Amino acid sequence: MFQNLKMVSRVIFGRGSFDQLDALLAEKRRGSQSFMLFLVDDVFSNSQLRGRIPSKNHDLLLWVSVDDEPRTAYVDELTARVRAYSNRLPDVVVGIGGGSAMDIAKAVSLMLTNVGSSADYQGWDLIANPAVYHLGIPTLSGTGAEVSRTAILIGPDKKLGINSDHTVFDQIILDPDLISGAPADQRFYTGMDCYAHCVESLNGTYINAFAKSCAEKAMALCREVFLVQDSDTDEQLMMASFFGGMSIAYSQVGICHALSYGLSFVLGIHHGLGNCIALNSLEDYYPEGVREFRSMMEKQGIGLPKNPLTGINDAKLEKMIDVALVLEPLWENALGADWKSVMTRQKIRELYLRM
Ligand SMILES: NC(=O)c1ccc[n+]([C@@H]2O[C@H](COP(=O)([O-])OP(=O)(O)OC[C@H]3O[C@@H](n4cnc5c(N)ncnc54)[C@H](O)[C@@H]3O)[C@@H](O)[C@H]2O)c1
Ligand SMILES: [Fe+2]
Repeated sequence: MFQNLKMVSRVIFGRGSFDQLDALLAEKRRGSQSFMLFLVDDVFSNSQLRGRIPSKNHDLLLWVSVDDEPRTAYVDELTARVRAYSNRLPDVVVGIGGGSAMDIAKAVSLMLTNVGSSADYQGWDLIANPAVYHLGIPTLSGTGAEVSRTAILIGPDKKLGINSDHTVFDQIILDPDLISGAPADQRFYTGMDCYAHCVESLNGTYINAFAKSCAEKAMALCREVFLVQDSDTDEQLMMASFFGGMSIAYSQVGICHALSYGLSFVLGIHHGLGNCIALNSLEDYYPEGVREFRSMMEKQGIGLPKNPLTGINDAKLEKMIDVALVLEPLWENALGADWKSVMTRQKIRELYLRM
């Protein structure tokens, strides 16, 4: 069976395009009790962007904390706050921020129309009802969360996305100006998420001409951004993220992401940095990708924490292995259908201890 890919329905791209948000929302406002829900990364609560958010009348603006990667309990709490605010649904859920804030917006838009806890839906195609119309606006580029069919959450016992066609944004606004103020190290780590998407998709068994075309373009853009051009690369990085996300949407990520999920669940290491740490130890699997990643790191003057697993106890290491192993499609993409005979718990342990 070939995948019937659900894509983002509408895209606006361009510097300054954020200011079209007001007009887009005006088309969606229904009656005098209508309200919009804005879920915005709280890093912007004292910024110039704050004054440009077109929140009015009954609209609800919630500043979200992304100090920790999004948790199912946090999504449930935000959903409950929206339900308490009004007995009707918002007409649009707008998510503004990096991958974390966008995933929170996707997850809340789904949970407003589905019963239970967001933890019940971590997995593939478990969502029953369509989400509230949701609109994403990235302020960091690399995760591909703006185009993906997943909202990645840390639940009580695993880090796993709510993967469904309903998760995909109905509209995105890609305004390269919004990513220009991100700190250099964060911009790099999140940018390397995109680079890892390309390496893992191109080197995976699920690769096909659709995914390859997207990954090759994204990789070329990553090279321009991190190896060639010295300034003014926001537009390229934003498009790299878009195409990298499209590539894995029609293929899959691999070993680097599987290991990164374990780092994030057990040690709280954020996704972009976790990928950098994991990729740096995967020379045996992605030799060219690892070499180029290191050149990018050097050119950008970015470092990685030394020995992040120092002193880790056995229970934590075992849990990291459990979390990584839940991600079966990732291992299958990387190593083929009989991956279980190749990738033992012992082997994963060794990979972690190499970091
Ligand atoms: N849904 C998907 O397809 C997908 C894919 C990959 C990763 N993710 C998830 O995305 C998250 C990582 O996202 P991320 O790497 O974009 O980082 P992030 O959203 O976690 O943000 C990282 C930091 O950068 C800050 N920040 C964001 N934009 C900024 C800006 N313009 N200026 C200054 N600071 C800014 C945030 O406040 C935060 O402190 C993880 O939770 C990961 O699981 C989702
Ligand atoms: Fe990723």
